[in-house]
Amino acid sequence: SPELTDLVREHVREIPDFPAPGVLFRDITPLLADGPAFEGLVRGLADSYRGRVDAVAGLESRGFILAAPLAIELGVGMITVRKAGRLPGPVIGVDYALEYGTARMELRPDTIERGQRVLVIDDVLATGGTGAAAIELVERSGGEVVALAMLLELAALGGRSKLDGYQVDSVLVY
Ligand code: PRP
Ligand code: MG
Repeated sequence: SPELTDLVREHVREIPDFPAPGVLFRDITPLLADGPAFEGLVRGLADSYRGRVDAVAGLESRGFILAAPLAIELGVGMITVRKAGRLPGPVIGVDYALEYGTARMELRPDTIERGQRVLVIDDVLATGGTGAAAIELVERSGGEVVALAMLLELAALGGRSKLDGYQVDSVLVY
């Protein structure tokens, strides 16, 4: 909703040259630190998916911050999609390319029931590698991805093209 977009825009802080020169970092910590704003965000997100999801999958680590309260607000469980080596087995994993090097996300497939409708959530959609890995993990575990909810989308990085065919809901697009 426009109200939700305004809420996020008003609480995101822009930090030039972080974490590297020339990069404009969008910092969501002021949004999280403001109790009424954080509550409004979670309630606003929940209103978009109420009754349509059976679980919320958060992507380590900043996605966890959003996934946990959203799952509670929706009355469903939370699934943790984790960085490599954090989850005890059995796990499945997906490797994906970063600008420099590779990364890997993992999931215990037994945390998802066959046919479960899963909402994937993360703070930022950049190149789309993390989101695409999460989709693959959820689907290989038998879940159905209802949508990907992203707080911020950095459109110039083209991540949406890696998520072709999926509903991608970004609250605020830069
Ligand atoms: C950031 C961000 C997203 C991801 C987006 O996570 O929180 O998860 O990158 O990038 P992509 O679309 O290019 O894959 P990061 O790996 O920095 O870790 P963090 O969440 O633990 O801070
Ligand atoms: Mg992240």
